[in-house]
Amino acid sequence: MKSKYILGIETSCDETSIAIVKNGTEPVCEFTASQVKLMAKYGGVVPELSARKHLEALPILLKECKAQNPNEYKKVELIAVSHDPGLPPALAAGMAFAKGLGFGRNLPVIFVDHLHGHLISSLVEDPPIDNPPQNYQKRIEFPNICLLVSGGHTGLYLVNSPSDYKLLGQTKDDAAGEAFDKVARMLGLGYPGGPIIQKWAEKAKNIGENPFSIPIQDKPYSFSFSGLKTAVRRYIVGLSAKSIEKLPKDIEIEKLGTALPEKAKAEISYWFQETVVESLVRKTIEAAKKNNIGLVTLTGGVAANKRLREKLAKETIKINVKVKYPQFKRCTDNATMVAAAGYFT
Ligand code: KG4
Ligand code: ZN
Repeated sequence: MKSKYILGIETSCDETSIAIVKNGTEPVCEFTASQVKLMAKYGGVVPELSARKHLEALPILLKECKAQNPNEYKKVELIAVSHDPGLPPALAAGMAFAKGLGFGRNLPVIFVDHLHGHLISSLVEDPPIDNPPQNYQKRIEFPNICLLVSGGHTGLYLVNSPSDYKLLGQTKDDAAGEAFDKVARMLGLGYPGGPIIQKWAEKAKNIGENPFSIPIQDKPYSFSFSGLKTAVRRYIVGLSAKSIEKLPKDIEIEKLGTALPEKAKAEISYWFQETVVESLVRKTIEAAKKNNIGLVTLTGGVAANKRLREKLAKETIKINVKVKYPQFKRCTDNATMVAAAGYFT
């Protein structure tokens, strides 16, 4: 849909976002309100509450967008909104708002695949990232292999063009981000788990051997993180059994995890992160090699993980493949990628 100015709307999970993008890849403005702090109180996203908060935030963000970019706002020819996948009540809030706005301004509204947005988020022009690795590629090329790792999805894609992509394989159970969130909860560290586990992993010193094994899958590009989550749970119980004389029968894992010494929390965070990263990177390297692709891109909330970026860069260099990541803010959910997907839909 080659409209010059597209307004994107994103409400699939806990970020409310409105953005204008020019010619598919030139970001004009973006206004995002996060529900992360609110949802942290509940240890995760509450879908109905999230929908209500989106409906409160959307008119405020739109007003801001209009006030700060009156000329571009007037030029908008199309509204693109995420319609799937995501939390149904949250998505419905965004779609209802988009339809109302489209009706009011007499503009067409298209529904875009939220994952399509993530897959092309590296295409949006942005200032360069900090500390790029030696094999960092500035401009995206096609075909590429995209590792999409978020709180709801973990999959490997062959992206042939901005509008043509194929799923090679995905997680059989939990998404990587979901596993980060659950492990952080078990350790009583808070929400969202990814950035918190990353911080705790950095605190680990004099670590011993990895107590967790890399999940092995029968299919070449499949992932699985639920077994790893269970292994972490068992490990927490095992450590607690050493210090608590009599473990109660119905143990609450969060209570045990919270009570662990800081050193143990840091070590578990470190090895859990290493195991997830190793599993993600191994499959991505296999996908690039087998499909003879020279560029790997990374996207989704977990793509903000420093260790993942570092390890992926290290392993791709070995096989002479380049890497490309979006800015941190474009890894998590945002309306700029939705407007871009609208352009290429
Ligand atoms: O893409 P996103 O904003 O929302 C979904 O579409 O799911 O991803 C959110 C997920 C959460 O699970 C969060 O814990 C994870 O991304 N995440 C991270 C990091 N930052 C966010 N995971 C690992 N390391 C990080 N630095
Ligand atoms: Zn997402």
